[in-house]
Amino acid sequence: MKILVTGGAGYIGSHVVKALGLEGHDLLVYDNLSTGHEWAVMYGTLVKGDLADRVLLEKVFREFRPDAVINFAASIQVEESVRRPLAYYGNNTVGTLNLLDVMVRTGVRCLVHSSTAAVYGIPEAVPVSETAPLAPINPYGSSKAMVERILADLSLAEDFRYVAIRYFNVAGADVACRLGQAYREPTHLITRALKTAHGRYGRLQVFGTDYPTADGTCIRDYIHVDDLSAAHVLAFNYLAEGGASEVVNCGYGHGFSVREVIEAAKHVTGIDFSVEETGRRPGDPPALIADSSRLRTLLKWEPQYDDLDFIIRTAWEWELTLKRRESCAA
Ligand code: UFG
Repeated sequence: MKILVTGGAGYIGSHVVKALGLEGHDLLVYDNLSTGHEWAVMYGTLVKGDLADRVLLEKVFREFRPDAVINFAASIQVEESVRRPLAYYGNNTVGTLNLLDVMVRTGVRCLVHSSTAAVYGIPEAVPVSETAPLAPINPYGSSKAMVERILADLSLAEDFRYVAIRYFNVAGADVACRLGQAYREPTHLITRALKTAHGRYGRLQVFGTDYPTADGTCIRDYIHVDDLSAAHVLAFNYLAEGGASEVVNCGYGHGFSVREVIEAAKHVTGIDFSVEETGRRPGDPPALIADSSRLRTLLKWEPQYDDLDFIIRTAWEWELTLKRRESCAA
């Protein structure tokens, strides 16, 4: 089938493009390359464009005539969203509104949408299920919660179906080491830890040690990017077979503290890098763990890589590959 993937040159999008390409789909990637890379698009055609450019977006839709859309194009950093809320509402909420408008006007009626665990804010209990109230505590989560509301309303008003996948903490890299995170200034814990191990940063900061958790640091449900990709392929197939609109969590159902992740990163790399305990980072909830039973039962999702050391090992191998590439290019 013909699938238009927004943000398909980015970290998660490129892994999903790989998975869909392997299934033989005809792909068009629409990406502004703000954080993505041309080399990361393993299948299909890349068009450089922004969701804010409605004219180009509509032209691309009318020429490619997709059967469905997968939407990754978004800004994703919690702390940055606290500092730059308008950028987040603009790119994530208004950008997706533009996309939906073009989809409706060109008759494209199926969407797999990237949502986030950040829509829950500080959940009353973890693991958190999809029925928990949405109470985001940062602009990033709010920008995504607004889109979920828009999608629900749109699916009632139009012949339009979607699956919104609420990601927990996505990490790791392609197991064959062809893809992985390649942000200019990464902020995610595992990537920062590995780059510290590699010497790019002098020390890794631990943001907050006074949270109401067993060791005082935040707990997250770290999920391998290829397991998340598989969930997108299942969601796409479900919609293609006529499935009704759904919202599903994607995580493994158990979490690790910041300190536990650091220990695992030291173990995998064999490097005892420096760590500095510092104050809390604005916008961080203490614990986010997924109840993914809906994804497992409805879409028959069976994760393959539920192993923190394995996730970190794939990210480490990717980090070493990136470093080799950089030194060859220099
Ligand atoms: N952290 C550190 N030091 C660092 C980086 C992170 O202590 O150098 C801590 C954070 O404070 C947080 C935890 O590690 O407690 C995880 O932080 P990340 O930045 O890796 O990820 P977030 O939980 O902030 O956010 C990620 C995605 C969001 C998504 C969320 C869902 O970026 O898009 O997971 O759980 F919504």
